[in-house]
Amino acid sequence: MSIKRNDIRHVAVIMDGNGRWATERGLPRIQGHRAGVAALKEIIKYSGEIGLEYLTLYVFSTENWKRPSIEVNSLMGLLIEFVEKELEELKANGVKLMVIGDLESLPRNVRASLERAILATEKNKGLHLSVAVNYGGRDEIVRAVKRIADDAASGRIDAAQIDDRMIESYLYTAGIPDPDLVIRPSGELRISNFLLWQIAYSELWFSNCYWPDFTPEDFQRAIDDYYRRDRRYGGL
Ligand code: FPP
Repeated sequence: MSIKRNDIRHVAVIMDGNGRWATERGLPRIQGHRAGVAALKEIIKYSGEIGLEYLTLYVFSTENWKRPSIEVNSLMGLLIEFVEKELEELKANGVKLMVIGDLESLPRNVRASLERAILATEKNKGLHLSVAVNYGGRDEIVRAVKRIADDAASGRIDAAQIDDRMIESYLYTAGIPDPDLVIRPSGELRISNFLLWQIAYSELWFSNCYWPDFTPEDFQRAIDDYYRRDRRYGGL
């Protein structure tokens, strides 16, 4: 199965339901996140196989710090483990890794690990994989506005020239096309502060299964549904 490359370029995924998946099995929540990593590896592989250009995954939000420290620490540990274990395969498959979010406030070892992987894959030309870590859509916009205000105050830009394109160039996702499709499993019907600016015209796709049960077949079903949608961008 392959996609029509020109039609769908960017899929973004809110990987939700790991905790419930684990709880329903009487397992600690972190086992759900581990199973979530296994699912995401399959989706990354499949995305490369079908020639998708951009995949963005919501890994850790600016609000996730509110979780108990044991879960936060486990998620940070999983991130490092993911990079350590998968980097060679990502490189071999031509995946270019990028992080969107506030890297500065991450634990030093997590940041170092991510930065190493970004550097090691920066020249790759295959799937462009963005992981949203310590990411919040409003936080991203606030940061952009502050930098725009600074640049306007110092004369680097003219406030009268501020438009959509300029704002985009100040976001973490500068240079990346907006998602065509946003997928959220687990039965929740909300966006949860994910890519608020970028999803203005994205198609949304929801399913009831928990993220660890989400398969490449589900991913393809979402893409097939996307092709049946009629995107009008406000026109007729
Ligand atoms: C949402 O499930 C999931 C997260 C907050 C984390 C997503 C992380 C992963 C899939 C694993 C880590 C990723 C990498 C790349 C190492 P939830 O915990 O909110 O589930 P619940 O709504 O059922 O409680």
